[in-house]
Amino acid sequence: MGELKNFRDFMEQKVKEYYSLPCNKFGAGGDFFTAPELDSVFGETVAHFLVPFLKEMERPLLVELGAGRGLMARDILSYYRKNFPSVFSKLRYAIYEISPYLREVQKKILSEFDKVTWVDEIPTTEGIILSNEFFDALPVHVVQEDKELFIKNTEEVWLPLKNKKIKDFLEKMNYTNLKQRIEIPLDALEFLSKISKSLRSGFHLAIDYGYTSAEMYRFPQGTLTAYKKHKVKNDIYSCAGTADISAMVNFSALMEYGKEFGLRTVFLKSQRDFLMSNGYFIKVLKSLAGQENPSAVERLSRLKTMLISMGDRFKVLFQCKEL
Ligand SMILES: C[S@@+](CC[C@H](N)C(=O)[O-])C[C@H]1O[C@@H](n2cnc3c(N)ncnc32)[C@H](O)[C@@H]1O
Repeated sequence: MGELKNFRDFMEQKVKEYYSLPCNKFGAGGDFFTAPELDSVFGETVAHFLVPFLKEMERPLLVELGAGRGLMARDILSYYRKNFPSVFSKLRYAIYEISPYLREVQKKILSEFDKVTWVDEIPTTEGIILSNEFFDALPVHVVQEDKELFIKNTEEVWLPLKNKKIKDFLEKMNYTNLKQRIEIPLDALEFLSKISKSLRSGFHLAIDYGYTSAEMYRFPQGTLTAYKKHKVKNDIYSCAGTADISAMVNFSALMEYGKEFGLRTVFLKSQRDFLMSNGYFIKVLKSLAGQENPSAVERLSRLKTMLISMGDRFKVLFQCKEL
């Protein structure tokens, strides 16, 4: 007899199992592409965006959450080493990563940089906490009207909603009258609170696929998805643990609770607008567009993927710690 557990506990266990599997999940041979895996310009653009903020800090720490293979870290650090040696020399970089397997991969890829450390807790610091596709991996509760989703073996069981934190969330976000499935990101909110507490001063940058409250009607069945070998799996229960299960990020919740935790939203914009408002990205884009050799054409198409197919689905949230 399988144990009855709420969807949140089920998802937490399966995401952990999945990311700890000792096999590659990224890129053409894996299960999905992320923007840092597509091209180094992504991490370089993030690095370029952060320069003015880092310049103001005395001894900043960049903390990356869920760093995958470590490519964004590599591209950010390489960009500063080459273009902003004064930022590079005072900068420290920490990675918070759940998967022992990925930690080892990251250590190899980042072995040329002696300023990277791995942490089990986010340190208290002046700095910037950043992530790409981290929040979507955090477990969510699932509710519909006055019921919460539980799982027994691979069967869905709907039980009366009792959890007070979920009820408070629905009230605060004005979702109590919605009839659709709603994912409740209590873990993401707890994480956001930790981020705020650990920032003595500085910023939080989160890039992910997600929605605002005004866009929720587009997902009447919720947004939970399982990816395996670049395909969406219809039955997430049978492939859980060996496929990537994620839920789109509720950015309205991150902004609303951010206020309570002392994080003021500077902006929320689409990934396309974020990239297109960055002088470095535009420079690379223009230079590639002017070339005819096959490798430049290929790179240009990867940049277009970041702008077009990912451009609207992904959003960039930038928050500042209120002092
Ligand atoms: C979709 S991958 C994104 C990787 C990378 N940021 C990128 O863009 O290529 C999610 C990352 O978050 C990590 N992760 C998932 N859940 C986590 C948790 N609860 N705590 C820390 N890291 C977690 C995974 O191991 C993985 O490195």
